[in-house]
Amino acid sequence: MELLRSPGAMRAWADARRAGGARIGLVPTMGYLHEGHVSLVRIARERGCGAVAATIFVNPAQFGPGEDFDKYPRDEARDLAMLSEAGASAVYLPGVPDMYPEGFQTYVEVTGASQGLCGASRPGHFRGVATVVAKLFLAAKPHVAVFGEKDFQQLAVIRAMARDLDFGIEIVGAPIVREPDGLAMSSRNAYLKGDDRIAARCLSRGLFRARALFDGGERDAGTLVAAAREEIAGEPLAKLEYAEGRDPRTLAPLEGRVDAIAVVVAAKVGPARLIDNITLRD
Ligand code: PAF
Repeated sequence: MELLRSPGAMRAWADARRAGGARIGLVPTMGYLHEGHVSLVRIARERGCGAVAATIFVNPAQFGPGEDFDKYPRDEARDLAMLSEAGASAVYLPGVPDMYPEGFQTYVEVTGASQGLCGASRPGHFRGVATVVAKLFLAAKPHVAVFGEKDFQQLAVIRAMARDLDFGIEIVGAPIVREPDGLAMSSRNAYLKGDDRIAARCLSRGLFRARALFDGGERDAGTLVAAAREEIAGEPLAKLEYAEGRDPRTLAPLEGRVDAIAVVVAAKVGPARLIDNITLRD
């Protein structure tokens, strides 16, 4: 597994792989990996990518003032061991000055998909995500890029950007990987201790309640979302940020009778801001 630490090294690796006829898969991450990330490498391989590059970069541009950039968990040695075991061919680990050298002034803004939900409480977040992902795409020149569906709005933003800017990259969404008790895997789960860890189950519990209603024939968007919202709002250690029903493809808000709906939720539990979602369809 090759370690690449500059955009030039990443580009040279990609050029050599392309010259050799390899299909390149890209798995962008911020490190502190878990089973969900490992599944992204596997999915890239299953999509016929003979060369899979993972990236590890805690991107300052997507953190707001007072957010957890400084304390975001980091463990490079453990991440590299996991990626090697998962079968990654290369890991790109640029430093902040490599990605944002002095004088940096160019950002990518995806207008529609970035609005509402996480975009409402984290102004500038998706601009930072779109910018860094565009830079990763340009350096790694992938044919396929794989992102977790837990970051549902992020995936919509990246799909829109890849389409609008003609990247010609297949964007693949990977199913959420959950802990045995239902909690969606996330690097930020490391912040959850004791009662907060138990309370954090309320997000997935709410989504599973919505799924049970849907499976029982309920098709009213408001009722499905209310089930998730009530479960989270009823947990004293959780502070609900949003629970909404969105079109799974376009992210448009949904009301009334639905055949397909993504129920998306966010809540703060202790020091951790958690997000989760479930797509329900006939
Ligand atoms: O989902 C993440 O880990 C990050 O937002 C991403 C896509 C790697 C961009 O920094």
